[in-house]
Amino acid sequence: MYQQYSVADTFGVSAPASMTVEGFVPANNPFVPVQKPYVFRREPLRDVLAFFRNPNGDGLYITGPTGSGKTSLVEQAAARLHWGVHAVAGHGRLEFNDLLGQFVLTGNGTMKWTDGPLTSAVRHGHVLLLNEIDATDPAELLGLNDIVEGKPLMIAATDEVVIPHPKFRLVATGNSAGAGDQSGLYQGVMRQSLAFMDRFRLMEVGYPEPDDEMSMLERAVPTMPLSIRERMIQLANEIRKVFIGGSDSAGLLSITMSTRSLLRWAQLSANYKGSPNALAYAWIGRWFCGGMRPNARPSTGWRKTCSAAIGRCDMSVLYWQVECRAPQPVVFAVNHALHQWRSCIDRWQQDLGLSYVGWPDWDSLLRLSEIGRGFDTSGQIHPEHGIAPWLWLTALKKAGFVGIDVGIVTDASRETSTNLHQESEVLQLFGTNLVQIRPVAEALGLLLPSLDLVAALGEMDSDWF
Ligand SMILES: Nc1ncnc2c1ncn2[C@@H]1O[C@H](COP(=O)(O)OP(=O)(O)O)[C@@H](O)[C@H]1O
Ligand SMILES: [Mg+2]
Repeated sequence: MYQQYSVADTFGVSAPASMTVEGFVPANNPFVPVQKPYVFRREPLRDVLAFFRNPNGDGLYITGPTGSGKTSLVEQAAARLHWGVHAVAGHGRLEFNDLLGQFVLTGNGTMKWTDGPLTSAVRHGHVLLLNEIDATDPAELLGLNDIVEGKPLMIAATDEVVIPHPKFRLVATGNSAGAGDQSGLYQGVMRQSLAFMDRFRLMEVGYPEPDDEMSMLERAVPTMPLSIRERMIQLANEIRKVFIGGSDSAGLLSITMSTRSLLRWAQLSANYKGSPNALAYAWIGRWFCGGMRPNARPSTGWRKTCSAAIGRCDMSVLYWQVECRAPQPVVFAVNHALHQWRSCIDRWQQDLGLSYVGWPDWDSLLRLSEIGRGFDTSGQIHPEHGIAPWLWLTALKKAGFVGIDVGIVTDASRETSTNLHQESEVLQLFGTNLVQIRPVAEALGLLLPSLDLVAALGEMDSDWF
């Protein structure tokens, strides 16, 4: 029934020849995942195998960024050991009873109990793989505590007591290590109960090292030249640095480049092979036309990074114009507002330690509006001026003073709007993003103050536990 597998041969990692791990004798078990090409990394593999060998009353909780290979690591390790897996995707309405099983109607009109994934795994010694467990209601998971510890599974509906098979394993994967999501990146992430988390050993799967990703890409698209593969991985890692927040940036992107995306990008590039800039086409195809979550849009820093890497830039200057045909009191009100916004901007820039190359029109616009008469003026905003002048003029536009007309257009003649959420192109031009400009944008009335859900939830904790 069981069989020893050589770690080096089975997983293609460097390990002493004598090192083996116990798995099942191949027996056409339909629950064994299909083997796919997979590049095993030493450390994560070691942790998973150690857990498979002896869980010691624990579950295994694998955290890491999305698409880094958490789910596939477990499935592919199990596949090679011929170990059955029941994978369940966590979601807000998943209930413990869904995991247990249910009565179903049979052909002759009677009811018959069918095991759910948990019961099957406990009964037959399979792995129960709970994916995105942090999206699941913690209360529904409490029922798993006893089973993780090796206690029998009670099925009240049938009065059955299932003694856990010695090879039953519980593995959970999630983005947030059970602490709820601090970053705001993973929506629907729930804080898991301490009592439940306590039953898990925690392991982290980050994005693979460049060498590992090189071999993944090589397997996925063997025809792709080495130099291109290297460039893609370099870009992916640059994006990840910005996403996670490396030394020089603090998590500025709202989407990242997972291993999954990288492989898909490579495959798309292969499809576009022969076109003048295959990488860029595939990039656009991947990110701007589809393949992404429907409501996710590439953010500014992201596009900036991409343009830097694949040599595209959409825009280089903004043209603005202010036409004033307002009566004197309104012009004075405009002048007053411009002064106020200007000091908000100054304070914000000081707080950030930003110093922009001077934009000549700050003073000219203030002086013109001081006189209280109509005027007509225009100018340009270049990337080195920073985003502040655009925010200033956009605030004026949004204020909608009667008789004041503000126009700001891109060099492709697109009128920029006052909805900052739609102006990623502008944010990109100035190398900034909504997070960074939020304080000043709120002060200028361009963004609504955001509700701090994490803080709000944090206050609820003490009542809950
Ligand atoms: N080490 C790897 N070798 C081969 N492909 C991988 C590897 N890691 C990730 N992948 C690819 O990335 C995809 C996403 O991995 P997955 O395990 O679903 O990520 P996660 O569960 O962390 O979100 C997989 O379908 C697989 O194609
Ligand atoms: Mg997964």
